[in-house]
Amino acid sequence: MDNISAGILGTGSYLPEKILTNRDLEKIVETSDEWILTRTGIRERRICEKDQATSDIATIAAKRALEDANVKPEEIDCIILATITPDTLCPSTACYVQKNLGAINAAAFDINAACSGFIFGATIAKSMIIAGTAKKVLVIGTETLSKFTNWQDRTTCILFGDGAGAAVIGEVEPGRGFLAEEIKSDGSFTELIIIQAGGSRLPASPETVSNGKHTVAMRGNEVFKVAVKCMTDSLKNAINKSGYSTQDIKYVIPHQANIRIIEAIAKRLDIPMERVYVNIDKYGNTSAATIPIALDEAVKEGKIKKGDLIAFVAFGGGLTWGASVLIY
Ligand code: ACO
Repeated sequence: MDNISAGILGTGSYLPEKILTNRDLEKIVETSDEWILTRTGIRERRICEKDQATSDIATIAAKRALEDANVKPEEIDCIILATITPDTLCPSTACYVQKNLGAINAAAFDINAACSGFIFGATIAKSMIIAGTAKKVLVIGTETLSKFTNWQDRTTCILFGDGAGAAVIGEVEPGRGFLAEEIKSDGSFTELIIIQAGGSRLPASPETVSNGKHTVAMRGNEVFKVAVKCMTDSLKNAINKSGYSTQDIKYVIPHQANIRIIEAIAKRLDIPMERVYVNIDKYGNTSAATIPIALDEAVKEGKIKKGDLIAFVAFGGGLTWGASVLIY
């Protein structure tokens, strides 16, 4: 069993067509293109149609990943879908995607690790493959954050966007695949990024709706400081575990929450920004979807090729964070 390596067989992504620019946001809340761009690095983000749910965009990304991997839906043993914006609380969004794909042999379930969801999902997928529980696992990061955004709150509504990314994970030849990872959580920070209502603590009621409690609330400034430290530590630890050094990494794909967070991590680890993938300007923060979308783009642009040493690093609500190192 130990000599099985698990790696990425194919990737896919989907971004809704509708673009919401910083200038558009200037008409909704008191903000400016200049403030948003300099404080976050975001120029525009994508927004789903009213009738597009999280599973709909996930299905398109997943179909593209299956095609890229040349894998049929029936070959998938498990679908792990990372989201904080599910279609419904029950059943899981993964089950809708399973039906849409016709992945009749797959177990399907959701995980909630916020923006770290794709790294957590990929770590579970790798473990399943190495343990022999599954041969091919579809890992999806997908969000429709626009539906959980308080459009009167300028401290959050400028940050988020919608999108989906997916990867098929399966056995690869020795010498390739996931080498090392670190996943972490700290439940003492649950209040920093939270959707307060709609669960058992605060069930939906006319008051929760009128008070905007079904949307993301965030203490951004506090999150920022913890994010830089935790992401830097996890990336360093995962690279050390892999046996390589930061200088060996061809591309780091970080969670796209804020360009200043990304630059601070790169500086602390002495990684030049040319080796850090950034697309936050186009899509904003799509939570669990940022890493698989960026990975798919980087591969399709020819920036990441088979055999390249790459790393993922993320941070999100929970708090959760982590990093993984792999040979693509
Ligand atoms: N336009 C104009 N001014 C604004 C805006 C806005 N959109 N938002 C806030 N401001 C104002 C504030 O009111 C404040 O004004 P004051 O000084 O008069 O009080 C000032 O700008 C500075 O506010 P800060 O909150 O200190 O700004 P900061 O530089 O920290 O940027 C931001 C805020 C962008 C939210 C940043 O803190 C951040 O990116 N935090 C991390 C977010 C993150 O990583 N989240 C994790 C994942 S999310 C998830 O898991 C779903």
